[in-house]
Amino acid sequence: MKFTPNLPILVTGAAGDVGAIGRHLTAELLAKGHRVRALVRREDERAEALRRLGAEVVQGDLTSLADVHRALEGCRRVYFGMSISPAYLEATVNVAAVARHRGVEALVNMSQMTVTQMSITETTPSPQHKLHWLAEQVLAWSGLPVVTVRPTVFLEGFFLKLVEAGVRDQDELQLPLGHSRTSPIAAADVARAVAVILDNPAPHIGQVYNLTGYESADLDHYARAFSEALGRPIRYRDVPLSAWTARLRELGVPPHLVSHLATMAELHQQGRYDRMTDDLTRLTGQAPTNVQAFVRQHAAAFTRSAVTA
Ligand SMILES: NC(=O)c1ccc[n+]([C@@H]2O[C@H](COP(=O)([O-])OP(=O)(O)OC[C@H]3O[C@@H](n4cnc5c(N)ncnc54)[C@H](OP(=O)(O)O)[C@@H]3O)[C@@H](O)[C@H]2O)c1
Repeated sequence: MKFTPNLPILVTGAAGDVGAIGRHLTAELLAKGHRVRALVRREDERAEALRRLGAEVVQGDLTSLADVHRALEGCRRVYFGMSISPAYLEATVNVAAVARHRGVEALVNMSQMTVTQMSITETTPSPQHKLHWLAEQVLAWSGLPVVTVRPTVFLEGFFLKLVEAGVRDQDELQLPLGHSRTSPIAAADVARAVAVILDNPAPHIGQVYNLTGYESADLDHYARAFSEALGRPIRYRDVPLSAWTARLRELGVPPHLVSHLATMAELHQQGRYDRMTDDLTRLTGQAPTNVQAFVRQHAAAFTRSAVTA
């Protein structure tokens, strides 16, 4: 593989919404001395923050072939990931087509752990799972030098955005996860693994990495981790899935995402997230962030006085 240290690495989804892997990854790659071209969908304060970090920021939509052409010009290594969306497959194919045209040397594709258990005859009711499975098929057919990263559920979703109001206002971890066990991972850990791959892609081409968190445990265990991190008792409340999804719809969460989150909850209840691998530690040499440390990092979001002050 040709060593191309002076060319920028393209990082998509760089502004960041739920996990913000692109934003964490930009910081990691810059710290390793790489040039980074960060693709954002819009010009806003997140784009400015990326510039301040030292990234070259380009604005564009991954569903636009012309934008992807512009973003990829002069790049040989690419991270592809973006927020959960019905347009995921179109964006993947745009990136794959342009990456083939430009002859990239490595493309890291962000996928999901559930895809490991999918096949031509086995899917899930989540439209996003199906798009990820199809996206992986397309990338395999493309012949591109792909590295596939399939993380489990992110801490930033089920253990931050989706629970912060309940923890803050009612001291409850309110989730429809029954008695399931799960091994949530921090997006910053996922980004660290992707940075290792993009720093020296050759040994990783063709590999699939399934990334899990620090431990697999049930929600009562994680409620205790919240209690210890926040210094006050937090209980787990198993809420009915139908009420939970109705609330998400009321809050304006798009149907594609509601359907995906509902499927994730159902798969949890079937034990499908009770998994552990050592891929993250093998890649990064570091143990995954545990829930207690994650809650401490985000304590302000879970604390009434901090939010209202
Ligand atoms: N959340 C989980 O539990 C989980 C678990 C495993 C795997 N994953 C996978 O991780 C990926 C999501 O990563 P993430 O959490 O880092 O994403 P994220 O922070 O939620 O979003 C990344 C960015 O994608 C941008 N984006 C969305 N549509 C775009 C488009 N058409 N063109 C250009 N940019 C676009 C968004 O821009 P704006 O903010 O400007 O809209 C957003 O800032 C997905 O592949 C998901 O399936 C997630």
